[in-house]
Formats: sequence, C-alpha cells, structure tokens
Amino acid sequence: MSPAEELRARYVDDLRRDGLLGEDLVRAFATVPREEFLATGFDGGGGRWVGPADPDFLPLVYRNHPLVTKVVDGVPVSSSSQPSLMAAMIESLELRPGSRVLEIGAGTGYNAALMAVLGARVTSIDIAPDVVERAAAALRRVGLAHAVEVRSGDGYLGGAALAPYDRVVVTVGVTGVSPRWLDQLAPGGHLLAPVEHAGNHPVLRIRPGGPGMGEARGALRAGFMSAAGPLAARYPGLHPAPRRTDTLPPPTVRHPPLWHPPLDVFRYHDLWFAVGAWDRRATFSPGPAGGWGGPGGCLLLDEAHGGGAGLLADGSVRASGPSAARYAAEALALRDRWVARGQPQISDWSARLVPAGDPDQPILVPTAWVQH
Ligand SMILES: C[S@@+](CC[C@H](N)C(=O)[O-])C[C@H]1O[C@@H](n2cnc3c(N)ncnc32)[C@H](O)[C@@H]1O
Repeated sequence: MSPAEELRARYVDDLRRDGLLGEDLVRAFATVPREEFLATGFDGGGGRWVGPADPDFLPLVYRNHPLVTKVVDGVPVSSSSQPSLMAAMIESLELRPGSRVLEIGAGTGYNAALMAVLGARVTSIDIAPDVVERAAAALRRVGLAHAVEVRSGDGYLGGAALAPYDRVVVTVGVTGVSPRWLDQLAPGGHLLAPVEHAGNHPVLRIRPGGPGMGEARGALRAGFMSAAGPLAARYPGLHPAPRRTDTLPPPTVRHPPLWHPPLDVFRYHDLWFAVGAWDRRATFSPGPAGGWGGPGGCLLLDEAHGGGAGLLADGSVRASGPSAARYAAEALALRDRWVARGQPQISDWSARLVPAGDPDQPILVPTAWVQH
C-alpha cells in the first residue's frame, strides 16, 4: 500500500465508525483519492498554504475536516466540505445507479466524484471558472470525467440543458432555493440544500408541492460558506447575520445552567433550530467568548439597541444591552418551551416555501415552521 492508500483506509475506517455509511459509500470513499482534488493546496491554518510537496499534506487531506481551497480578500470562497457531512448528505440523497444529479457548488469536484462512483450521472455547477477548470482536471485525472459534467455559471439558474434531475444537491449556503431547481426536478425527485436559519445553514430536504411552492423539512445540522448572487439574497424576516460577541456590550444579566453535562452538539443544534423556528431574532454569535461563556453559539440579537441574550449548550443565559433582563427572560422561555415540547430534533420541523428576495430573481424561503 502507498502512504496515501494507507491513510485513506484509516480515514474510511474513521468515517465508518463515526457515521452510518452504507457499504456503497464506504467503497466510494475508499476508491476516490481526495488528494487529487486538492492538488493546488489548501489553507492549513495560521496563514500557511499546504501543498502536495509539504510533508503533512496527505495526513491533513485524510482527516474528517473541511479544507478551504480558495480565499479572496481574506474570505474563504471555495473548499472541500467536511467528509462526514458529505457522507450524510449523499446518504440522504438515496442515489441509485443511473440517478441524474444536479450539484450546485462544484468546488473541488470531490463530492461529485463520490456520487459518480455510486453510479450517479452528475452535472455540477460552480460560479467560479477557475474552480470549474480545476475540478474538471481532477475528475479527468481520476478517470471520472465521463460521469460528471462540470460547468461554470450561477447555480441559481440550475442546469436546464441536462434537466430533468432525480436529485438536486446544494453544497453552498443559501438563504432560499431557486424555483428553477424545482422546475428541473423529475417527478418524485427532491433536493437537499443548506438554507440559512438562525445564523447556521442546516440542510433541508425540499419537495415540490404542498400548500406553498414546495415543502421543506429539516434534515441535518451543518455549516457552509455562503453563496454568491441571488441565492444569498437577504429578505425581510430573515434572521440577522451572525454577530461576534466582541461587538456586543459585555453581559450584565446571567442565569445558571440547566443541564449537567451540557447538551451534546447535536442536541444543542436541535434546541437552536427550534429557537430559530420560533424567533426571528435568533442568530449565531461566534467567539471570542469574553464574558459570554462557551465558544459562541445561539444569540437572540437586539438589532435596534445593541446587545441581546446568548443561550449556551448547558442551558445558561447571558444577556447585555439596554433590554438585557427582558432578552434573558425571553431566551429562558424559548429554552423551556423546547423542553416542554419534548426537545424536538431538526428533522421534526417542516415549513412551506414562499417567494422572497428580488422579484426578478426570487428565491423560495421556508416560512411558518411547524413541529411534527
Ligand atoms: C463548499 S464549496 C463546494 C464543495 C464541493 N461540493 C466539494 O465537495 O468540493 C462551495 C462552492 O460553491 C461555489 N458557489 C458560490 N456561489 C455559487 C453560486 N451562486 N452558484 C454556483 N456555485 C457557487 C463556490 O465557488 C464554491 O466553489
């Protein structure tokens, strides 16, 4: 075995242990050399760009981590997503040999390659022509160019030329889904998209029909970089954009923890999703923690006056600003409502889709979340 094959075998074992990988997906991860899709390197942290000549290149490639492959003006704009998240999304797509898949956000092409090994015929679109060129070259190197068509363009438009698709999978964060994707779905098809909700991008499963222009159902906890163009349009009623704790006044009101030990990351995101379903002020507040505690998390933001209330994984609350006491009480009430409702999971929620954004390029956004 080459060093890459050895590392890949261990990586597949880890993914298998952590998640629910079907045997076909295990084979796909074991077959596709991730390093070929990272040939121009990635951000290794601390300002270091790691390329194939670096001694830690392969060990870093074969970890269950997202790898940023393109940065513009200090902002990450393209990456290879976290392998366990790719695995969970691919499993949720329920692909069959011959499934026609439209992927929005080709990135490195690695995710498309995994789907192609499962027998899917993939059309993958990316807004950046240089990203498309690199993904297409990698797919040629690994012998999968015949199964994946990579095109450049705004994913908002979908891929009319090769429609219809049995599945659409969106691998970049959006604020709503394009009506074109629904139009390009074959009967019985569905799409998966990370749609902004309370400062995160949980993956929603979307089906056409229902009482609105489609129905969205929570599927997976996830984080994604944001799309460019109309797919990331902000609209009235959308949760506020994430706000760092160090831009807020220090907390003046504190309520103690409810859970010892704290909720694990999955249950915390279930709580956070519910808070977002009930309250439009909910968003993400990344650290530094300061007096806020934790590495950052769910925040009810007081946009008008500054401050708000942070709700941590142990159920404690910190609040700041002129309405700190009221915000803290409201955060506690939302936490207790989640408990009283039986601690619903992300997958227990559904919403109908309604048009929003630019009327010339509308997006369909989830509205009126209901717990099942
Ligand atoms: C997280 S990466 C995709 C990861 C990829 N599927 C992989 O496995 O390597 C997101 C990609 O979406 C692309 N993107 C951003 N906005 C887009 C848009 N409006 N239409 C199509 N692609 C877009 C970016 O250029 C970036 O390459």
